[in-house]
Amino acid sequence: MEIKKLLVIGSGTMGAGIAQVAAESGIVVLLNDTDLNRLQAAQASIGKLLDKKVQKGKLSEDDKKEALDRIYLLTELNVAAQDADFVIEAIFENLEAKLSLFKELEQNLKPDTIIASNTSTISITKMAKELKRPENFVGMHFFSPVPAMRLVEVIKGEKTSEATLKAALEMAEKLGKTPIAVSDVPGFIVNRFMCLMYNEAAQLIQDGVATAKDIDTAMKLGVNHPMGPLEISDMAGVDIVLNALESLYTASGDERYKPAQLLKDMVAQGKLGQKSGEGFYNHK
Ligand SMILES: NC(=O)c1ccc[n+]([C@@H]2O[C@H](COP(=O)([O-])OP(=O)(O)OC[C@H]3O[C@@H](n4cnc5c(N)ncnc54)[C@H](O)[C@@H]3O)[C@@H](O)[C@H]2O)c1
Repeated sequence: MEIKKLLVIGSGTMGAGIAQVAAESGIVVLLNDTDLNRLQAAQASIGKLLDKKVQKGKLSEDDKKEALDRIYLLTELNVAAQDADFVIEAIFENLEAKLSLFKELEQNLKPDTIIASNTSTISITKMAKELKRPENFVGMHFFSPVPAMRLVEVIKGEKTSEATLKAALEMAEKLGKTPIAVSDVPGFIVNRFMCLMYNEAAQLIQDGVATAKDIDTAMKLGVNHPMGPLEISDMAGVDIVLNALESLYTASGDERYKPAQLLKDMVAQGKLGQKSGEGFYNHK
C-alpha cells in the first residue's frame, strides 16, 4: 500500500515525534491539533531536533529543510481527512475524546483509509465496536521519545483485518521502526513488564529491603538495564506510573498490578519525581 499522505492527529509529545519520523522518511504529514499553540510548539521542537542532527552530521541542511517542508499544520480536520491515506491518532488518552474524533473522521475519510490509535491503555477491540469500519482500525503503540525509540507495538483488535495489520506493520517499518504484532491485551507487552518492575521496585522500598540507588544498581549491573526502574519512574513521573498500574489493574483484574501503597502515598504528597523536584531521588 502506497502511503503518500499521513494524517497525524494530536501534536503533543507523541504526535510531534511521529510527524518528525514520518517527514524524515519522505512522507507528507498533515499534522492536526485543535490547539494552534501546540501545533506551533511541535513544529519548533521538530526544527530544533533536526538542527541537532545537522550539527552532529547525521542529516544534511537540505534534507532537514525538505523534512520540515513536508509537515503541514492544520487545526481543521475535515479537509485534511479527505486527503489522507493513513491516519495515526495521538490525542489525549481519553476514550470519549477518541471515539468522538473517530466518528467525525469516518465521515470524511476515503473508505479504505486505515486509522491507527497510539493509545497506551484503551482496548482496540472496544474502540472498534463504535466504528463503521472496524476492519480498518488498528493500534500502533509508539514509545517516547519517538525519534529515538525503535519499537512499535502493532495491536490487532478482534475485527482488525489481516490487510490492515500488514499495512500498519509496513507503516512502522517505513518510519524506520521495528514493529511487533501483539494481541489486544491490557498493557500490550512492554507496559506489562515495565509496570511489574516499577511496582516491585516501589514495594522493595516500602518493605525496607534496599535504597532506591541500590535497587537501581541491582537492575543496571545485574541485568544490564541502562536505567534502573526507580530512575525511570522519577523521569516518567510517579503519577504516570501509578496511573499506568491502576489502569492495568482495572483492565486485567490481575493482583500483580495492584499499585504499591508507597506509590499512592508519594503521589498524594506531591513527590512526583523530576518534575516536582522530589521522587525516589532528590532532584533539587
Ligand atoms: N507520552 C508517552 O510517553 C506516550 C507513550 C505511548 C503512547 N502514548 C499515548 O499517545 C497519546 C498522546 O499522548 P501524548 O503524551 O502525546 O499527549 P499530549 O498531551 O502531549 O498531546 C495530546 C495532544 O492532542 C491534542 N488534542 C486533544 N484532543 C484533540 C482532538 N480532538 N483533535 C486534535 N487534537 C487533539 C492536544 O491539544 C494535545 O496537543 C495518548 O493516547 C497516550 O496514551 C503516550
